[in-house]
Amino acid sequence: MSTFTMDTGTSRATSTPVPGKRVTAPAIRARKVGGTTADPIVMLTAYTMRMAQLLDPHCDMLLVGDSLAQIIYGLPSTVPVTLDMMCNHGAAVVRGSWHALVAVDMPFGSYEASPEIAFASAARIMKESGCAAVKLEGGEAIAPTIEFLSKRGVPVIAHVGLTPQAVNQLGGYGARGRSEAEAAHILADAKAVSDAGAFCLVAEGVLEDIANAITAAIPIPVIGIGASARCDGQVLVTEDMLGLFERTPRFVKRYDDLAARITDAAATYAGEVRSRAFPTKEQIYKAKP
Ligand code: KIV
Repeated sequence: MSTFTMDTGTSRATSTPVPGKRVTAPAIRARKVGGTTADPIVMLTAYTMRMAQLLDPHCDMLLVGDSLAQIIYGLPSTVPVTLDMMCNHGAAVVRGSWHALVAVDMPFGSYEASPEIAFASAARIMKESGCAAVKLEGGEAIAPTIEFLSKRGVPVIAHVGLTPQAVNQLGGYGARGRSEAEAAHILADAKAVSDAGAFCLVAEGVLEDIANAITAAIPIPVIGIGASARCDGQVLVTEDMLGLFERTPRFVKRYDDLAARITDAAATYAGEVRSRAFPTKEQIYKAKP
């Protein structure tokens, strides 16, 4: 169950959201004019209400990625992610945002079998979370499903190149498109999902030349991750760019070192509890005189 409104009286929400119109799927699509996007599209992942609140003013789109598998749940891949997880985290992110378009990943197994099953899954995600778009992985093979959804009121973000839900078939998370045949296949995938009606496309883990070729070839915005600076926008997993994990993939730029800062804060707290330096009189309640 979700309300889509922020109840500042019962939460730790720091601010009342400014009423305003959210970024829409047509507005994102319209950012690319005549093959170019003058103002690159900013996208970050979010899985929780508080992170959404902090990121929302800076982003055009917030992605409730199925990368929550590894980031939130400690799972080995995105394969075990469920619709329940995506609906619950999607609703939290919608409640914590007012400006950015919120897109929710369709989890593995919720859309591949048929366009009808994909529609039922997408409708559930949109109803339960309040999000305005879904993202799904795949190219030519999934294009008929994208067309089916797009014609029935479901804005779709496509995802080509490295598609992590297919890790068991791909054999790992290495960059895609190193052979001519694979490069041609990825370009054909991008064209197929664009023709099918996706309003934008995530290109993940592809060689720079392929990302540039896709960006030039299709009319919808291309959001890169491990792709190219010439894409129409960029997305990163927020916890990666905040430096929350020891391992930083090559395509990630660290904008902070949050792991070190949290470690320092936890160590200081632990020391103060053990030495009875915390709490002080400022943090305890006294009887009123
Ligand atoms: O799940 C996710 O976070 C994603 C991004 C990496 C694009 O799909």
